Amino acid sequence: MKVLVTGGAGFIGSNFVRYALSNHTDWEVINLDKLTYAGNLENLKDVESNPKYRFVQGDIADEELVNKLFSEGIDYCLNFAAETHVDRSIGDPKDFIVTDVQGTYALLEAAKTHGVKRFIQISTDEVYGSIQEGSFVETDMLTPRNPYSASKAGADRLAYSYHATYGLPVVVTRASNNFGPYQYPEKLIPLFVTNAVDDQALPLYGDGLNVRDWLFVEDHCSALDFLLTNGVDGEIYNVGGGNECTNIEITKKVLAQLKKSEDLIKPVKDRQGHDRRYSLDCSKLIAMGWKPSGGFDELLEKTIHWYVENEDWWRKIKSGEYKEYYLKQYANR
Ligand code: NAD
Ligand code: DAU
Repeated sequence: MKVLVTGGAGFIGSNFVRYALSNHTDWEVINLDKLTYAGNLENLKDVESNPKYRFVQGDIADEELVNKLFSEGIDYCLNFAAETHVDRSIGDPKDFIVTDVQGTYALLEAAKTHGVKRFIQISTDEVYGSIQEGSFVETDMLTPRNPYSASKAGADRLAYSYHATYGLPVVVTRASNNFGPYQYPEKLIPLFVTNAVDDQALPLYGDGLNVRDWLFVEDHCSALDFLLTNGVDGEIYNVGGGNECTNIEITKKVLAQLKKSEDLIKPVKDRQGHDRRYSLDCSKLIAMGWKPSGGFDELLEKTIHWYVENEDWWRKIKSGEYKEYYLKQYANR
């Protein structure tokens, strides 16, 4: 199988590339990534010399490049590439529209022209908006509330339209908040762990009572792998960890494991339009045979431990050194 992974140098994409190469040794994996601030080839250092892996630096919105890649004969395409940080989308939404919507369009067009066996559009639980009580099912209305989730909702429905209109074998997944190794330290867990290691304040938005459902990144990878073969064309699948938690609870768990004082918690002004709670009903996918691994506290501990053990990785990013380092490395190749 020839598998095109877009955004494979980011958090979930790099975990998926590693997962794919170790679970499917016959697959050829192509990673198309623009290497924005969030893309980091260090995430894939351990597989870069694997003969079944190829990195292509480029933009998913570059129609010519994308068309050329699909003309090689792609069996599976998994579109992870996106601008992903809600706070950045609130400050400056433009790149979100260009990458998340136009980029997805370019991939879908190329897939339509050359044909694929499966196109997975990695969407998000944020497209549903916020829910006070109960959980969202796949047929619920989409009410995204920030520029990131609105662009993702655009891409989600655009992908579906290529199934409904042209018969493209599209599957849409809507996952909850992922956690695990290699997450860019601007997101809650890696930001708070790395700040706490350095005895820096943990900026907790608003009253800290917003709820997220936490999904271990390897469980997300296993769900995507499962859906490549078991998903039904045109269907949507919620993928959640079943670990709902308030932000203050997560923050206290992080501090307790690192044996740091709760005095590091610094309540700050709330995020604009901050979604109160995300919650997914995943019975559709679970009934098909997939399930998350469970044991949230152990997985969180394992994740915190990974950041403690991999200081070099996040210090380069936090000091802004990584981009410079990468450009030098790449220029020498
Ligand atoms: P990330 O920000 O860590 O990585 C995004 C990757 O995409 C980076 O490597 C970046 O360089 C690349 N990229 C950005 N623009 C590009 C472009 N125009 N062309 C090619 N590559 C480009 O993101 P993530 O957290 O790994 O999320 C991956 C996907 O999963 C996204 O589509 C996101 O919406 C979705 N998702 C994320 C979560 C989560 O909790 N992180 C949950 C549900 C869904
Ligand atoms: O739900 C899936 C989504 O999860 C993905 O689609 C997004 O790409 C991903 O970024 C994530 O979005 P969130 O906004 O939920 O994640 P973030 O880590 O930014 O924030 C998690 C919660 O923590 C949220 O309620 C805001 C809060 N927060 C976040 C940061 C960065 C803080 O209180 N302080 C912070 O400094």
